[in-house]
Amino acid sequence: MKIAIIGGSGKMGRWFANFLVKDGKEVIITGRNRGKLLEAKQQLGVEVATNMEAVKRADVILLSVPVESFEEVIKQICPYIRPEQTIIDITSIKESPVEIMHKHIKRGITLGVHPMFGPGARDITHQNFVLTPTNKDETALAQKVREYLETRGARVTVMTPHQHDEMMSVILGLSHFIAIVSADTLLNLGKLKLMRAISGSTYKVWLTLVESVISEDPEFCASLQMNLPSGVKVNQLFQSRLEAWADLVKNKDKRKFIRRMNTLRNRLEKDDPDLPRAYQNMYKLIEEL
Ligand SMILES: NC(=O)c1ccc[n+]([C@@H]2O[C@H](COP(=O)([O-])OP(=O)(O)OC[C@H]3O[C@@H](n4cnc5c(N)ncnc54)[C@H](OP(=O)(O)O)[C@@H]3O)[C@@H](O)[C@H]2O)c1
Repeated sequence: MKIAIIGGSGKMGRWFANFLVKDGKEVIITGRNRGKLLEAKQQLGVEVATNMEAVKRADVILLSVPVESFEEVIKQICPYIRPEQTIIDITSIKESPVEIMHKHIKRGITLGVHPMFGPGARDITHQNFVLTPTNKDETALAQKVREYLETRGARVTVMTPHQHDEMMSVILGLSHFIAIVSADTLLNLGKLKLMRAISGSTYKVWLTLVESVISEDPEFCASLQMNLPSGVKVNQLFQSRLEAWADLVKNKDKRKFIRRMNTLRNRLEKDDPDLPRAYQNMYKLIEEL
């Protein structure tokens, strides 16, 4: 099977090229910058081509380009897509890329897929994938993709593109937002080195999360913040909660603070019974660092 990775010279494109080659697939990669593309060819031992040539020669087309370039790339390749081809996109946002594929691709079956890991992932085992089929043909394709991924140890969840984007506004959007604002706050306060030296587990867990987000590609983080459909709404909710809690502290309203914190704990344990175990494991990990 021949797989064309459009944007294969990028971070996720290289990850999938490496994975697919090891899995016995023939891979052709594309990219705009010729130097970067040739470097990836050397590193991965795969073929390189233009977007058009790669599409013409492939059985499966994997789209690994930024959300901002997505429609331009789809418009460019859609005249060359054949009915028997499969087109899978791995953008981190699903509603608009899936709509764009439906709008322009009239031959071939498309599927929205979101790998829930970054280019630093060691392998596919235990990694989460979200698949977002929207009709009968895509559901049949999603079933095949699910079997392929689960056989190799990945975990697969199927949902609509809308459900996916709503959840990503929190899972990626809010968690990144909090980490970036946290880094900004910490650096304003200073004395980071000394604070780390004397800190306990809670600070270390927090700092680990902050550092892991800050080391991500700013272009990718900005793209998420600007394109997640409910990102602004979620950030505003966070801002209003932040103000409410800050007011309790400012007004020294200890009784209300305790009552609200107890309510939160009970609700969290009810909504996500695995949570206490998850954070105990996290603390154990950090203590071992
Ligand atoms: N990074 C993550 O953690 C992560 C995780 C899951 C999913 N994703 C998704 O994966 C996709 C790729 O992300 P990435 O982090 O790999 O980005 P990246 O490193 O910037 O790679 C993007 C690739 O797309 C190419 N490209 C951009 N515009 C193009 C165009 N108009 N025509 C042809 N090629 C074009 C780039 O080529 P040049 O560099 O030569 O311009 C590069 O090869 C994104 O949609 C992202 O949302 C990312």
